[in-house]
Amino acid sequence: MVELEMLRTAFERQCGRSPAWIVRAPGRVNLIGEHTDYNEGFVLPMAIEREVLIAAAPNGGARLQLRSTAVDAPATIELAQPVRPVVAGDWSNYPRGVVAGFIERGIRVGGLDLLIHSTVPLGAGLSSSAALTVATATVLEASARQRLDPLEKVRLCQEAEHRFAGVPCGIMDPFIVSLARQDRLALLDCQSWHARSIEFSDPEVSVLIVATNVRHALAHSEYPLRRRQCEAAAAKLQVRALRAVSEPELARAAAQLDAISLKRARHVVTEIARTQQAAAAITACRWSEVGHLMYLSHESLRCDFEVSSPELDRIVEIGASIGEEGGVFGARMTGGGFGGCAIMLMRSAAAASVMQQVSAQYAQYFGVAPALLVSRAAAGAGVLQELPVSERA
Ligand code: GLA
Repeated sequence: MVELEMLRTAFERQCGRSPAWIVRAPGRVNLIGEHTDYNEGFVLPMAIEREVLIAAAPNGGARLQLRSTAVDAPATIELAQPVRPVVAGDWSNYPRGVVAGFIERGIRVGGLDLLIHSTVPLGAGLSSSAALTVATATVLEASARQRLDPLEKVRLCQEAEHRFAGVPCGIMDPFIVSLARQDRLALLDCQSWHARSIEFSDPEVSVLIVATNVRHALAHSEYPLRRRQCEAAAAKLQVRALRAVSEPELARAAAQLDAISLKRARHVVTEIARTQQAAAAITACRWSEVGHLMYLSHESLRCDFEVSSPELDRIVEIGASIGEEGGVFGARMTGGGFGGCAIMLMRSAAAASVMQQVSAQYAQYFGVAPALLVSRAAAGAGVLQELPVSERA
């Protein structure tokens, strides 16, 4: 793996010794089940073949020195002082939040030098932030020789985003980034945190990720707003979360809700049902049905949840115009919305022609080509290399 060798060499050059550990944590896409995680519903994500790698070695001091191959200035976390977030938007807030979570749980964090390298495009909606928090947690586990309970690790990484980055995200991203299995999707129940592994290895079917390279400023404020709107709708319906409401129940209670609450709730309730249907259809290799559910999901996100964007809508339209005859089963936006990525489920044999058409038609419309990536379902985070203690400098 070229990236791994490059990272090791860069670490040796910058820190003057070999890394004691190299860990990885992947990015993710969600096949279906959007904005359902914080409503205690179902999601159906997979990890992708892009990842955050961290090389690390003890430094004998009382601080973490963080370097990144993407950023010039290193960041320092002083362990003798309470760990707090620095200025909003700073990338080091993610590892800071993870370090604080370890310390709060009574796990010893020793001084370390870290070098971070990411092949997950930043801010593209592929969960580069969860990849960074989970990779940091994985390196701290390795250096403390203490593994957290896997779900506690997910919770710790989610809390780091809430408290140190100010993003009130759900559990989907840290869960799948930590616990994904190769060639599998996870049908995750965000109420019980129980996941069913769904085989997703049919070589005849591929996921195409289409990155718009656009992130609308709205994303920051609208995500927490959607969350509050869902909570308000649940309170009105006197349930803890919208997961508890069925479609017929929502239809009967419609008069109690204002127009916005009804739209938001309708997306969540129908999306939870679609996600379970999609998992069953994937298990039976009913790809046309999966594609149809993806289009319905996108419509619901566009009209009822109102988190799509012109770029995402265009990609879905291009997918629909290529159609099943051209090899596309379905398409939808994925992740939080307002830019980021869309995905297409396509026949692998048609991949080259689909990619060519998507690129050309998108560029014709927006004047820039989208970034395209085909990925199999990858494995979750782990330690790639560990030097025996006797060989550490
Ligand atoms: C972001 C959040 C996730 C989830 C999605 C929408 O990616 O981090 O928790 O809510 O948006 O499904």
